[in-house]
Amino acid sequence: MKVVVLPGDGVGPEVTEQAVRVLRWFAQHRGLDLTLVERDFGIVNWHKHGTLMPDETWAQIEGADAILFGATGSIDQQGVVPPEERRKGSLLRMRKALDLFANLRPVRMPPALTEASPYKPRITAGVDLCFVRELTAGMYFGTPRGVETLPDGSRRGINTHSYTEAEIARAARFAFQLARTRRNHVTSVDKANVMEAGALWREVVGRIHREEFPDVGFENMLADNCAIQLARAPTRFDVLVTDNLFGDLLSDAAGAIIGSLGMLPSASLSAPDAAGRRRALYEPIHGSAPDIAGQGIANPLGAILSVALLLRWSAGRPADADHLEAAVAAALARGARTGDIAAPGEAVIGTSAMGDAVLAALAA
Ligand code: NAI
Ligand code: MG
Repeated sequence: MKVVVLPGDGVGPEVTEQAVRVLRWFAQHRGLDLTLVERDFGIVNWHKHGTLMPDETWAQIEGADAILFGATGSIDQQGVVPPEERRKGSLLRMRKALDLFANLRPVRMPPALTEASPYKPRITAGVDLCFVRELTAGMYFGTPRGVETLPDGSRRGINTHSYTEAEIARAARFAFQLARTRRNHVTSVDKANVMEAGALWREVVGRIHREEFPDVGFENMLADNCAIQLARAPTRFDVLVTDNLFGDLLSDAAGAIIGSLGMLPSASLSAPDAAGRRRALYEPIHGSAPDIAGQGIANPLGAILSVALLLRWSAGRPADADHLEAAVAAALARGARTGDIAAPGEAVIGTSAMGDAVLAALAA
């Protein structure tokens, strides 16, 4: 398979380097047929070549089976990139162009970290949930959008929360199908009480449940209540399906439960084509972490666990994915800790030493 690697900005290259080492391990030791193509992307590329995303990189992506992405952006440098260029080379554009409508964000509490969790172990032990966040519509894409000047000279910013029935339906179907492979329960999250697109969301997801997936356990939940339940009783969830905006916020909050954003992977998938192949982008959910970039201390486990998702969803190698997830759990059980997940007094290792620990556990 051909994997295009876009390490990007900030800690992106640091964590992606470890993810690539792990991916290569499966090529060397498990017979994974792998062609890697690495390209600059983001602010780093802007500084080198005057563009965030060169046409040649787009061409590589077109022919790729999967993209392995690090992170992009740095708030203090974003001002130097013209808005037009930002639109052309943004992660948002890549999601839209490849029609990556289903953003999977699994959140699992590693047993080895349960005691160190910022929440009570009683609440976090055994958390194993997965968000399906709709990724190509809703608040981040709806029109009209923009900043307009009003007659009195003051300005107004506009975003539009818009969903078609088809956009809701495909996210819902993805979630119900995923639930059947897990604990067979879906929570659909919206604000049907105050938002028109939210009311339509609730109607369409409910209909698809009744007509196509009556065997799957199902509930609706308001987004504000969901925030409370995630903090109070996260083990009650299996699959959560929600829109672009709520999915962004709630999945980051769920990540906090397990201790660090640096631990969490994601997959962004299109619908399958006629040959059953999905376009796919894999990335840790964190950003470029400018506050710790360049120090070799970032946690690479979110990037490494994104490789497990790649093995499962793009390479068709679920056993290898399981093996990698078990290796990460084993490395943690043996005490491997980057600074973000270390309890007071625990020894701390750097980014590449964490990669070493996972590779050692893979080989064991
Ligand atoms: P961030 O995720 O980069 O950092 C938030 C906090 O988590 C920071 O304290 C950071 O040090 C910590 N953190 C993040 N990743 C970590 C890791 N692997 N190991 C240890 N600690 C880690 O979010 P922030 O600071 O809000 O955004 C920074 C930049 O990243 C912005 O320009 C933002 O637009 C961009 N961003 C990009 C994303 C992407 O590429 N998909 C996603 C989120 C933000
Ligand atoms: Mg986010």
